[in-house]
Amino acid sequence: MAHLFTLSELSVTEITQLLEDAEQFGKGYFWRPPKPMFVANLFFEPSTRTKCSFEMAERKLGLHVIPFDADMSSVQKGETLYDTVRTLESIGVNAVVIRHWEDAYFESLRHAIRIPVINAGDGCGHHPTQSLLDLLTIRQEFGTFERLTVAIIGDIRHSRVARSNAEVLTRLGATVLFSSPEEWKDEANPYGTYVDIDTAVAEADVVMLLRIQHERHEEKMGLTKEQYHARYGLTLERAEKMKENSIILHPAPVNRGVEIASELVESERSRIFKQMENGVYVRMAVLKRAIEGGMTNGSYFKKWKV
Ligand code: CP
Repeated sequence: MAHLFTLSELSVTEITQLLEDAEQFGKGYFWRPPKPMFVANLFFEPSTRTKCSFEMAERKLGLHVIPFDADMSSVQKGETLYDTVRTLESIGVNAVVIRHWEDAYFESLRHAIRIPVINAGDGCGHHPTQSLLDLLTIRQEFGTFERLTVAIIGDIRHSRVARSNAEVLTRLGATVLFSSPEEWKDEANPYGTYVDIDTAVAEADVVMLLRIQHERHEEKMGLTKEQYHARYGLTLERAEKMKENSIILHPAPVNRGVEIASELVESERSRIFKQMENGVYVRMAVLKRAIEGGMTNGSYFKKWKV
């Protein structure tokens, strides 16, 4: 299978292989597709890190990037996502990366599209490449996931990062703690135990803050930014209580002074910019897997006659 929709569809062996490949790419490992290949990045929601790091990864691998601007595409004339991807497949694009506002948008593509589809985030659903870069950053720090405690703090219910990470971290042997305002708890997510923020910060090896997903809220937050920071954020005072050797992660974009004190974003414990660097290596590994998978399942044989 060459698609990447969720990490829960990958075995621990496959996840470990992706992390190994990403580690090697970080050390300068050279890999190229065997023929000229073409990739399109379809972003139907805003993105800085994921979109730019996929494009960086694609260019580092020597892939040709076909520009796609959702606002200037025929999606604006009512074309469906399926017909859009089917069109790109028909003209010879070899893989697509998609971010979409709809949860599980990929179900309409799963069995009908033969080129690999890589999920760059679906609504409140999953964000597998963010999760892989978080895993790589944690593994670089601690060498293992077993017996680690990871606290995921903030807007759990609307976060695809929380959903992807809690499942995979549990599978890899970590203990997941959640901390969240009552209205943003996700009772459907069985992979973490809810605790108050002071307990979460004090017990965690990894303190992972989440952005408040205002764009997915039906009601306005009932707290000011300052009130949220004091009650649920990683303040300077709370950070003083973190365990020795514990680290801070955040998928970003960061709302400085809301979920995390601005001074902590680039503090000694923070690995936030390391996460972004690792995002390029992880996406190189995911693209390599997609292309190798596309070759072995025969998807590319026709398209190779360039
Ligand atoms: N972490 C993340 O997905 O960032 P972007 O929305 O900027 O891609």
